[in-house]
Amino acid sequence: MKRLMVPALWLLGATAVAAPAADLVKGKQIAETVCAACHAADGNSSIAAYPRLAGQHPAFIYKQTKDIKEGKRTTGSAAAMMPMVQGLSDDDIRNVAAFYAKQPPRSGETNPKPDPKLGAKIFRGGLPEKKIPACMACHSPNGAGIPAAGTAVTAYPRLSGQHADYVVTQLKAYAADQRTGNMMRDIAKRMSEEDMKAVANFIQGLH
Ligand code: HEC
Ligand code: HEC
Repeated sequence: MKRLMVPALWLLGATAVAAPAADLVKGKQIAETVCAACHAADGNSSIAAYPRLAGQHPAFIYKQTKDIKEGKRTTGSAAAMMPMVQGLSDDDIRNVAAFYAKQPPRSGETNPKPDPKLGAKIFRGGLPEKKIPACMACHSPNGAGIPAAGTAVTAYPRLSGQHADYVVTQLKAYAADQRTGNMMRDIAKRMSEEDMKAVANFIQGLH
């Protein structure tokens, strides 16, 4: 019996390894023809309403694109993206997500005007008196996020370099329960507008 078990286990391992890899060439083509107008071909959009996708975790890009396609995420101008992605299959979305995840991210700059110290403090240590946790506990110290494979979470998304206005809009959307993402809702609800703007400004310059 023991002898028979070994090849069976080996086969299981082989199946996992043989999972189809994303097609980056196809992904690039979709990025250039469908997404570039808003997110830029390399994912480093320069317009604050369009989030930067370069270097974002593929599982997160996949999930958010599917949610927008299926009308489950309607924040900001997501309605403008929805019709553009209707023709994409799950494989198309997987390929374009893999392509954007591989693009080198470019960061913005921290505006020196709004208190940069408050933003850094919230990101690194949180505001214990308001029960706001440190953002870096989940989004990592340099804001690169964490893939979170094997947990119920798709990914702790990359935040570093993201447009500050976009980050503020999303924090407000979580606070108003307009965006799912159970961990973020409670956190955002405890933040004042000043807290949101300060940490978003810090994140924009993070790299
Ligand atoms: C017409 C403009 C437009 C096009 C084309 C477009 N998007 Fe978007 N996309 C947006 C906007 C606007 C948002 C932000 C919505 C919000 O504010 O919540 C967004 C958000 C996203 C997000 C969520 C990012 C995050 O950090 O949460 C992903 C992922 C995304 N788009 C992927 C894509 C992909 C992949 C394509 C091409 C297949 C694409 N988008 C095409 C406008 C567009
Ligand atoms: C307990 C873990 C945790 C902590 C702490 C945390 N986050 Fe998050 N955050 C998440 C998860 C998980 C998501 C993805 C949720 C989703 O699917 O919408 C997320 C998403 C976000 C997004 C949306 C990103 C995008 O591209 O769409 C922003 C912005 C954000 N977090 C900012 C913050 C800030 C600012 C702090 C600190 C005040 C913070 N987070 C603390 C877990 C956390």
